[in-house]
Amino acid sequence: MNLYAQAKSDLQNAPRRWLITGVAGFIGSHLLETLLKLDQTVVGLDNFSTGYRHNLEEVRNSVSPQQWTRFQFIEGDIRQSETCVKAVEGIDFVLHQAALGSVPRSIADPILTNENNVSGFLNMLVAARDAGVQRFTYAASSSTYGDHAALPKVEEAIGNPLSPYAVTKYVNELYADVFARCYGFSTVGLRYFNVFGPRQDPNGAYAAVIPKWIAAILAGESVKINGDGETSRDFCFVDNAVQANILSTVHDQSSNAAIYNVAVGDRTTLNQLHLEISAALTKLQGSLPASEKMHLDFRAGDVRHSQASIEKISECLGYAPTHTVAEGLVPTCQWFISRSG
Ligand SMILES: NC(=O)c1ccc[n+]([C@@H]2O[C@H](COP(=O)([O-])OP(=O)(O)OC[C@H]3O[C@@H](n4cnc5c(N)ncnc54)[C@H](O)[C@@H]3O)[C@@H](O)[C@H]2O)c1
Repeated sequence: MNLYAQAKSDLQNAPRRWLITGVAGFIGSHLLETLLKLDQTVVGLDNFSTGYRHNLEEVRNSVSPQQWTRFQFIEGDIRQSETCVKAVEGIDFVLHQAALGSVPRSIADPILTNENNVSGFLNMLVAARDAGVQRFTYAASSSTYGDHAALPKVEEAIGNPLSPYAVTKYVNELYADVFARCYGFSTVGLRYFNVFGPRQDPNGAYAAVIPKWIAAILAGESVKINGDGETSRDFCFVDNAVQANILSTVHDQSSNAAIYNVAVGDRTTLNQLHLEISAALTKLQGSLPASEKMHLDFRAGDVRHSQASIEKISECLGYAPTHTVAEGLVPTCQWFISRSG
């Protein structure tokens, strides 16, 4: 049995109490679905700033009525410390996902991003420490690599942040490190690299590229590419991110305040991505409406290339991505097609 299968079987044999912040969001709702299917007890916290009730409904429909009774939802905001204190009561493990994502959003409103991503994070960290939580696993970000040019990215070598969002995610890591030193509090930071999958929001100015393009192609609208399309990313299907959360929370015996890349370890340019999405949609749907490709200016704050080394998480935790980009695009496109009719 591989380590992920082992971790899941251990949890089923001895269920735990989890808190997922940002549970109504894209990644949070996938964590919820997986944990409920493993018969865990889950408290979820969200203020619906970028998350949706329909994500929770979709999880409800994918688990048994018995499993759903083990979920308790708190509508609240991590910027309120009392809410964080209430949410962590009796919790073994925290998966902290709540934050305002998006580099451009943080450039437009750095104060709002800081309030959610730094003050909110610190509220959660203090509440979890005081409640005696065993492990605090949080969503860090590949944006922390900033202007460091080397590829692939290894955890120890970071550059200067290129956006307020990147600053907030780096500050999370600094706080986690200091909480290990000052209080012996156990944290793991997962530097996600462009996670994608079903339930990722395609709407709004700050939508991520994959859901935005799938929705545009299905609607016969133009696909807008920032720059020449040779910008590249290590796109990571959401099941791989769920695996990393479970392995690092349950199995990581390493020193406190560990940081891991969460990715596939591959690199896809935006031009290649456009071809792969079009191919996946064509295969699933037959013909597609005409959709032109438009190149816009490069976007401020974006790094040119990004690719992770996944050596550390593979060696330390037995992480093994189950989906390549092409494999992840199939269920993702299927999900969008099922909702476009
Ligand atoms: N998706 C990616 O590619 C990616 C990459 C790197 C890091 N991350 C990080 O992963 C985490 C989850 O991202 P996601 O893609 O699922 O985004 P998402 O926007 O779908 O989910 C975030 C959730 O947090 C909630 N939230 C935000 N602020 C809150 C607050 N103050 N109080 C309570 N709830 C709040 C939102 O309503 C939403 O449901 C975030 O921390 C994000 O920064 C994501």
